Amino acid sequence: MDLPIPQQSPRHVDATAGEPIVELVDVHLHLASAGGEVNILRGLDLTVTAGETIGVVGPSGSGKSTMMMVIAGLERPTSGSVRVAGNDLPQLDENALALFRRRSIGIVFQAFHLVPTMTAIENVAIPLEFARIADAFEKAKKSLETVGLGDRLPHYPSQLSGGEQQRVAIARAFATKPALLLADEPTGNLDGETGEQVINILFERAERYGTTLLLITHDAAIARRCSRVVQLRDGRIATGPITSNQTTSL
Ligand SMILES: Nc1ncnc2c1ncn2[C@@H]1O[C@H](COP(=O)(O)OP(=O)(O)O)[C@@H](O)[C@H]1O
Ligand SMILES: [Mg+2]
Repeated sequence: MDLPIPQQSPRHVDATAGEPIVELVDVHLHLASAGGEVNILRGLDLTVTAGETIGVVGPSGSGKSTMMMVIAGLERPTSGSVRVAGNDLPQLDENALALFRRRSIGIVFQAFHLVPTMTAIENVAIPLEFARIADAFEKAKKSLETVGLGDRLPHYPSQLSGGEQQRVAIARAFATKPALLLADEPTGNLDGETGEQVINILFERAERYGTTLLLITHDAAIARRCSRVVQLRDGRIATGPITSNQTTSL
């Protein structure tokens, strides 16, 4: 069944360098909880230009992951404007949001989020099949080869090291050549050396495809590799210099 309702279908734009790919204006996200309302995002403004690598730092609980979920269309803001890759996200219904994510966004999480019952190649190929992309297994194989896992295709996540699992997740995230790659503390579960290898692959892939990279990190050395760094505090972008206690040094 071909889904999208015409006026709600996501636009698939090839991001043009220099144009905004993410525009958040006065974004608020409030959630009801047992202890009363929690204000997670409180007037967040952020513009990301296509082709940038942007580092996002800030204390734990400042709203970094929530901001990423809003940009990915996985959380709906309570109010405010969210434009990503030419789409007005609050206007899209669930089907259109799912299509938007498949076509325009790649996500890498701290905890890898691979499907444990699928092999490495299946973890990369099955989402491509969902996105109705031709030659899914051939493309998945190529994507895994580019992250140095060409010899690990039939292996399950439990048979792979943490660094290898994160490389599978990177291969999966880049397999659709997304305009925007979101990474939430992708080295948080890895030792320093393995984390550096993973970050090198992430930057190399982003540069190869001209992908805009939004990278949440606690690591000052990783943040410094980005073309720009923003700091969140209390659910909005903090102005002023990046303070040293927001990140840890290697
Ligand atoms: N589903 C939820 N319900 C209630 N509070 C939440 C929920 N998700 C996140 N929060 C709260 O929102 C704040 C921001 O969380 P998060 O975006 O995960 O921060 P960060 O990634 O910067 O550590 C935290 O105080 C967290 O406890
Ligand atoms: Mg977080």
